Formats: sequence, C-alpha cells, structure tokens
Amino acid sequence: MVAAVENSIAGIKAVCNGCCNCGTCHVEIEPEFLKITSPMYSGEKQVLTKLKNNQAGSRLACQVIVDEKLEGMRIIVR
Ligand code: FES
Repeated sequence: MVAAVENSIAGIKAVCNGCCNCGTCHVEIEPEFLKITSPMYSGEKQVLTKLKNNQAGSRLACQVIVDEKLEGMRIIVR
C-alpha cells in the first residue's frame, strides 16, 4: 500500500493509512503469488468479507509485506 501511494497508483486511497479497517487498499493478487504473500490475519479477513467485490485472490495491500520473492507480482486494483 505504501509503495502504491508513494507512486500515485490510481485506486489505492488507503483512507485508514494502513490500519486495516477501511478496505480502500483492496487488490487482487495472482494465485501463484497469493500463496507466497505474508499470512492473512483475522482482521484483514473481516474487512475483506465486508467488501462487495471480494475475490478469491483479494488482499488488503496494507497487509501484504513486499519482499524480493514477490518480484514480478502483478495486482488488480479493486
Ligand atoms: S489502508 Fe485501510 S485497510 Fe488498507
């Protein structure tokens, strides 16, 4: 989320500034990368279930820890 905001990626509003309660950083991650992203905690799951466009690959960008193993990952901004 921070990388998206700092690079002016459209659609990432991040209203709660990464506190995992607004859902405005919702993204969809490709399955091959989804399985190697940082674990999803219950708070993130709760926010995602409230989003009407929640998908199998949905994550809150503010909860995904980006490191070198995610190089090449593509996301869809929801
Ligand atoms: S920035 Fe609000 S949930 Fe991610």
